[in-house]
Amino acid sequence: MPNKKIILSGMRPTGKLHLGHWTGALENWVALQNEGGYSNYHLIADYHAITTDLDTSRIHEHSLEMVLDWLAAGIDPEHSPVFRQSQIKEHTELHLVFSMLITTARLERNPTLKEQVRDLELGPISYGYLGYPVLQAADILLYKGEIVPVGEDQLSHVEITREIARDFNRQYGQVFPEPAARLTQFARLPGLDGKKMSKSLNNAILLSDSPDDVKKKMKKAVTDPLKIRKGDPGRPDICLVFTYHKKFNSAEEQEIRRGCESGELGCVDCKMRAAERINTFLDPFRERRKKYEGHPERLEEILKSGEERARSIARQTMSDVHKAMKIG
Ligand code: TRP
Repeated sequence: MPNKKIILSGMRPTGKLHLGHWTGALENWVALQNEGGYSNYHLIADYHAITTDLDTSRIHEHSLEMVLDWLAAGIDPEHSPVFRQSQIKEHTELHLVFSMLITTARLERNPTLKEQVRDLELGPISYGYLGYPVLQAADILLYKGEIVPVGEDQLSHVEITREIARDFNRQYGQVFPEPAARLTQFARLPGLDGKKMSKSLNNAILLSDSPDDVKKKMKKAVTDPLKIRKGDPGRPDICLVFTYHKKFNSAEEQEIRRGCESGELGCVDCKMRAAERINTFLDPFRERRKKYEGHPERLEEILKSGEERARSIARQTMSDVHKAMKIG
């Protein structure tokens, strides 16, 4: 393989994924994979999941659900190994080395941490949680990742990864690339209530929703509060349903805009047209999903083989690290 660029990205196993995960990151994973010229690696950040929730009883189940969504979305595990962070012990080793290369003050300044502490009302946080970006740096650099397709909330973590790579290289010699984040165009997709799409807010369209689920959910979507009945002029730019049209129905975007603004198009019709487009978009996901449904052992096998491939790269990198550090 002549110098394929390395793509590394992952997600915490929070269970079933929604359209926001697709537009925020997954879309880029699949696009880069299919473009050719890249080697993709995708990890399930199961250790990261424990930073905010010590209950591990559903992590396994959530990991399988998430892998299933990745495969349904078009990740090809032959081309792009998928694996769990916890099954490759080099993640924790590299995390330890990196933890010496960054100050606690730098980690306390991390804006994503501050935001989460506020939003999740976390109170005092653990040592491990403060080090969240250090583990993420290990995830990326263990595979010498060069491009990290993520949502914009992860930019601060990629920046910390770059700093750690630079500091390691300066101290011990060139081992790591300085990875760059790759954002999607449509970073934040609103949920059905207009807030950020999130499963815990109950405002999400899941990648695994049936056509009927999508229609039912869409019926409840919030629209322009000043457009009460058909005939009233609406304001598409403040309507989340219009955002869905822009993303999933761009061919009709202008027509929908005119219909909404003139009042000719009622909200119920508009929502059903969006639901139809989203269903057309999700149909290939549904088709690919069938192969695995009711077969958790197929997913387990895919993980096992992804983990073997990832592990051999991780070992090589740790050997480079030890050599550069002249220990062992
Ligand atoms: N922090 C990422 C998130 O919350 C998940 C993650 C863990 C990750 N390790 C990674 C993303 C490495 C990209 C690269 O979604």
